[in-house]
Amino acid sequence: MKTEYAVKDRYANAAKACEPALCCPVDYDPQYLKAIPAEVIERDYGCGDPSKYVRTGETVLDLGSGTGKICFIASQVVGPEGRVIGVDMTDDMLEVARRNAPVVADNIGFANVEFRKGRIQDLALDLEVLDAELKKRPISDAVSFLAADELAEELRIKRPLVASKSVDVVVSNCVLNLVEAGAKPQLFRELFRVLKLGGRAVISDIVADEEVPLALQNNHELWSGCISGALTEEAFLKAFEDAGFYGVEVLKFDVQPWRTVEGFEFRSMTIQAFKGKQGPCFERNQAVIYRGPFKEVLDDDGHRMERGIRYAVCDKTYNLYKKAPYSDFFEFIDPIEEISHAAAKPFDCTRTSRRNPKETKGQDYNATTEANSQCCDGGNGGCR
Ligand SMILES: C[S@@+](CC[C@H](N)C(=O)[O-])C[C@H]1O[C@@H](n2cnc3c(N)ncnc32)[C@H](O)[C@@H]1O
Repeated sequence: MKTEYAVKDRYANAAKACEPALCCPVDYDPQYLKAIPAEVIERDYGCGDPSKYVRTGETVLDLGSGTGKICFIASQVVGPEGRVIGVDMTDDMLEVARRNAPVVADNIGFANVEFRKGRIQDLALDLEVLDAELKKRPISDAVSFLAADELAEELRIKRPLVASKSVDVVVSNCVLNLVEAGAKPQLFRELFRVLKLGGRAVISDIVADEEVPLALQNNHELWSGCISGALTEEAFLKAFEDAGFYGVEVLKFDVQPWRTVEGFEFRSMTIQAFKGKQGPCFERNQAVIYRGPFKEVLDDDGHRMERGIRYAVCDKTYNLYKKAPYSDFFEFIDPIEEISHAAAKPFDCTRTSRRNPKETKGQDYNATTEANSQCCDGGNGGCR
């Protein structure tokens, strides 16, 4: 908790006046900045721009929203059909963000942003609701202390700050590194929990090129300065894998470090990760071919595929590959006779096997056809 207090203190001050040591220059799309008041833009402590990757109509959750800049940009991108929720634990940050929300709404002509108070490693617990309840029954002894714990658990279930499977895209700009080391696995699980199936996380954060030594981690100034809580590049990506995400991808990697401390380099990286590989596997005789350019690929479910070979995949994997981030890398072969969902049998996804073309065509298929006039490349050239 000591680290968290140091973080809260530092950002309470940084909400009141710009702290240059916390600023890592970012080029935001200027068309979206026009509607945002100067005090929000000046107190920018981001290191990337995840709002670039959100789309019209989406529900966006911004972790560690600060004075609200990313929320106010995302608000314009998602438009009136979408909505944006910012979560932060620091009252002074929330105060600036909430005070400016109606100003931005007036400037853009609609209001779709709200700010909630919570810790991003515990997105179920609404700290303002807890606060109000505790005022009615203050903690004065061991019994009331234990009761407060139970109350928090009840609130997480009955009145969650962010409900499970409620968000299309979780974004965050330079915040995950600030969460205490012991709470980081829970942070990634929370990110996963709040996303809808098919949702994604787009996170900009500071990462380290080498594991940060304990001596640096114990320095509160460096931790709250977005330095010593940074995971290594490798550990950052693995944290998403471990939480159950798939298709984890580096969208932006700043080759130039933001800061170097005692030879350790700290730089900004933006990643994207998807939720949705969990679920039952059914056989519908579909095949995929990995197009290359690599000789072989391995996905997050352990499917290892060589370039140019037909592989059998379950219906779930087939449909995952048809979407981002995979679709451009595969060819898709549907069976001639479709197997209905009701008739589909379980598929063993623990191994990757080739798909014999006879399985997609049918064992008795022996058609002979004339040359297909649509072949090839749409059939514009050749004999007419
Ligand atoms: C480096 S600033 C980034 C602010 C904002 N994302 C931006 O782009 O300007 C970190 C923000 O995260 C908040 N924060 C840090 N740790 C947090 C936690 N565990 N839970 C909620 N908010 C947190 C701080 O209060 C602060 O507003």
